[in-house]
Amino acid sequence: MDYETIQVEQRGAVTLITLDRPKALNALNAQVLTDLLAALAALDADHSQGCAVLTGSDKAFAAGADIKEMSGMDFAAMYGSDHFSGYDRLVQTRKPVIAAVAGYALGGGCELAMMCDFILAADTAKFGQPEIKLAVSPGMGGSQRLTRAVGKAKAMEMCLTGRMMDAGEAERAGLVSRVIPAAELIDEAVKTAAVIAGMAPIAVKANKEMVNAAFETGLTAGVQFERRLFHGLFGTADQKEGMAAFVEKRPGNWTGK
Ligand code: CAA
Repeated sequence: MDYETIQVEQRGAVTLITLDRPKALNALNAQVLTDLLAALAALDADHSQGCAVLTGSDKAFAAGADIKEMSGMDFAAMYGSDHFSGYDRLVQTRKPVIAAVAGYALGGGCELAMMCDFILAADTAKFGQPEIKLAVSPGMGGSQRLTRAVGKAKAMEMCLTGRMMDAGEAERAGLVSRVIPAAELIDEAVKTAAVIAGMAPIAVKANKEMVNAAFETGLTAGVQFERRLFHGLFGTADQKEGMAAFVEKRPGNWTGK
């Protein structure tokens, strides 16, 4: 399938999605959302694919929502169309998506990275929510996801001042899982995604779903949800295979059933 604003490449069982609006530093316009939703729906539908990596360029993962597209919009247009609500569908993707961030991840770019299941950052990465400088605010979940990721103090400072966080600070604060030399970012992200794609597919979905539930539920309900999904995995053929393979000291051979 051809896309206007992204490039999609399959590397084995890993789908590598690259934002491709270099002249606008990968600013997120309506077409990017359309393309991303299509690519992620294709990922979920393709049994040969187990995990995606979402990346940008060396200079910018994405420098935010497209300011030029938004600048003329009024309240009625924004509220009437529930602008950005389409991104809620993006987080419904059932297979894991890793954000591989180099350069700027600002505003909607930072928010898009945080919609992914985890973030691997190049040592050049810079994260920020600078919308306040435009007299607006995060609008794709940044005030919520950043606060959950790094806590109130840093999230509040970043939203109120627009200050950027470098990769080291982002790792210390828990926003990114690892920092990687920029030249190795894509290879390392694809390698990590391949590890995930090599796991039993139903277990991958269950693990993703239960970790995400931690952001939506209280502890008792979350632990109960985890336990029920864990019990459910004992209804899969891959659980039998996985435990037999361990005992027989061989790799598991997954059927996705
Ligand atoms: N939207 C539209 N175009 C953008 C853009 C954006 N978010 N960010 C950069 N661009 C465009 C610039 O307008 C410029 O285009 P022209 O060549 O046509 O002028 C091109 O990308 C290159 O940008 P710069 O010349 O500014 O590059 P730089 O290296 O000097 O600066 C930068 C890089 C610091 C990232 C700077 O571009 C910048 O501050 N960008 C805006 C960041 C921002 O405010 N993001 C938040 C957007 S609002 C939002 O995201 C709302 C939300 O929560 C969903």
